Amino acid sequence: MVSQATHKINLCSQGIALKSLFTGYLVVVAIGYLMAIVQIQFTHGMADGELGLSIDDIVYSYYGNRSGSVLEAKLNGSMKLNTSEENRLKIINWVHKGAGEQSFNNMGIRTIMDESCVMCHNGSSGLPIPDFTKFENVAKRAETDEGATFSSLARVSHIHLFGISFIFMFVGLIFSLAAGVPKYLKATVIVMPYVFLILDISSWWLTKLNPNFAWLVIIGGGAMALSFAFMWVVSMYEMWIMPRLRSDYRDALLDE
Ligand code: HEC
Repeated sequence: MVSQATHKINLCSQGIALKSLFTGYLVVVAIGYLMAIVQIQFTHGMADGELGLSIDDIVYSYYGNRSGSVLEAKLNGSMKLNTSEENRLKIINWVHKGAGEQSFNNMGIRTIMDESCVMCHNGSSGLPIPDFTKFENVAKRAETDEGATFSSLARVSHIHLFGISFIFMFVGLIFSLAAGVPKYLKATVIVMPYVFLILDISSWWLTKLNPNFAWLVIIGGGAMALSFAFMWVVSMYEMWIMPRLRSDYRDALLDE
């Protein structure tokens, strides 16, 4: 029998309703996290032309590959399989020859674009990618690659700051009810994602200015993922496994 005095505020002794709510949220957020990692592999992971996220990818994404153009980098990377080897080399050759408008038509680049690229790269695809039915949009990608623009960094930064801090608010709230974690460790794990979120996003801007900061992006993102995983596993454990082993009479919210 659970009396008023023994029912404490901790994950282990909550009822099935609150546990289900917490679990549903944690599961969906974890799937979201996995999807984000998959998406990073597709966008940044292929930046250097090889699968998997590396320091080079991060440098290319934020600082740019200043020895070449975005068009060339993408044709060696995530856009490689969208056209034949011959067409790919034709486009790269055109870029090396100065990417002029006249040669765009004369060298058959317009035709290649129309056949292999504009089914995705058009104004009405709904994808956040350049419209290659317009020459100037192709020409812009043929210029030296300076990485992410400040305006795109500002956009992605504020979306990440608002969105991710919100996710960690709820993950942290659930985890704060875990009674089995010493209070200083718990406070550290809860505050870590916020510290590393700021570090991660600052490091995008620093990498835009100086490629040596690319490793900070990896550390920031990795530490954030680690604290997420820790809070997730401990919360799930205290909700679903611990109650089978014993009762928990501790109060997780009091600094006892
Ligand atoms: C199946 C759809 C599809 C086709 C076909 C396609 N692309 Fe893309 N393209 C995308 C998507 C999605 C992105 C954004 C993700 C990325 O950068 O990998 C993109 C991004 C790009 C970018 C980077 C744009 C930027 O400003 O960041 C370039 C350059 C590019 N594509 C060139 C091409 C060329 C050249 C072709 C034709 C040979 C082509 N693409 C064919 C879907 C497509």
